[in-house]
Amino acid sequence: MPSKDEQPSEKSGTSEGKPQTPLPRTARPGGGSRKTGRRVFLKLAALGGVGTAITPYIPYGAYLTQGAETASAEKQRVIRSDSTVANINRFPLNTSQVIVYPRTGDPAQDAEPFRRFQLIRLPPPEGEARDASAFRCYNMICIHLWCLWNYWSDSETAPCPCHGSTYRLADGLAIAGPAAVQTAPNNALPSLDLEVDDEGDIWIRPPDWTVDRNGIVGYGRWIPGVTKKA
Ligand code: FES
Repeated sequence: MPSKDEQPSEKSGTSEGKPQTPLPRTARPGGGSRKTGRRVFLKLAALGGVGTAITPYIPYGAYLTQGAETASAEKQRVIRSDSTVANINRFPLNTSQVIVYPRTGDPAQDAEPFRRFQLIRLPPPEGEARDASAFRCYNMICIHLWCLWNYWSDSETAPCPCHGSTYRLADGLAIAGPAAVQTAPNNALPSLDLEVDDEGDIWIRPPDWTVDRNGIVGYGRWIPGVTKKA
């Protein structure tokens, strides 16, 4: 289980634990509106008895009672865990970086698990592209019961260590485990849109934290043409 002060891992395949820290009232990625809060609440209510089992891992009560404020959406350069700018020319194929978004500069806030995303440079041939299509960037909170999944480059899979949900690299759809049988849009990871500038630096575009666009952290994202809304 990661501590509040744990730094993002440098490379794929490192062990990650379960989130412990609720997001602050003023900066919860993907969780802005009261409507969103109701959606998450309804999902958790539907989980019923399993709530007892997950209580040791997730401070659900604190998360659900947070207000309607939204995190400020802004375009940000991707900063690696060594504080350097992520650049496509120095990002090996089939590797990943744990990154923070939105990044505030406050170490305590930036350590919150709900801000963690896996930036993955895809394996060949897709990863050989010289633009943002070579990458995927998904929120690390598993949409089953909020453990942190990780990317394993050896097997090119993105599994969650808690109950075996596994996510597809191409679009973040759950393809195995309990998250795969959840109803859309509660079956795909929230994602961030990227762009690469003329210098090769990688940027995160301002997200739209709705299920139809970038998704809702801890809840899911609708993938048009792949999954259908309930
Ligand atoms: S929390 Fe990830 S599979 Fe259950």
